[in-house]
Amino acid sequence: MKRKIVAMSILAATISFTSLAENNNEAMMETAGKEIFKKCSACHSTDSSKNTFGPSLIGVVNRKAASIPRFSYSEALKKSGLTWTEANLRRWMAGNDILVPGTRMRHVQITDVAEQNYLLAYLKSL
Ligand code: HEC
Repeated sequence: MKRKIVAMSILAATISFTSLAENNNEAMMETAGKEIFKKCSACHSTDSSKNTFGPSLIGVVNRKAASIPRFSYSEALKKSGLTWTEANLRRWMAGNDILVPGTRMRHVQITDVAEQNYLLAYLKSL
């Protein structure tokens, strides 16, 4: 009986340690992503849902492309039929004008998967 209790508390300790590590990891990823987002923040505001030169990216993950009201998107993006899934966001980061030729957004190229992960973690936190 006693052994069972010991085993269970070891298990509980392991579980809480794992989730602690995961939380820290997530926070770290967001922080790293915030740094990378400096490449984007000249045009994309995050302090409110306002559009600046680029559309707001708050809630962009799984949003339909070109769906923010009153933002004047390019015809190319409007006709793209894309949804901003993680996979499409990666493709956009890696070469937006390759994914959507004719987009109004200036060329960006973030091909490093780790950097993409950080940026995605940050975008999800917005
Ligand atoms: C020079 C200004 C500029 C920079 C820098 C920039 N963007 Fe954009 N972004 C735009 C514009 C303008 C659009 C609208 C494009 C269109 O209509 O074709 C846009 C559109 C987008 C969209 C589609 C949003 C929607 O509502 O469909 C995403 C996602 C996006 N940008 C992400 C990023 C990320 C991530 C970065 C940084 C790596 C970045 N942008 C850097 C100007 C910029």
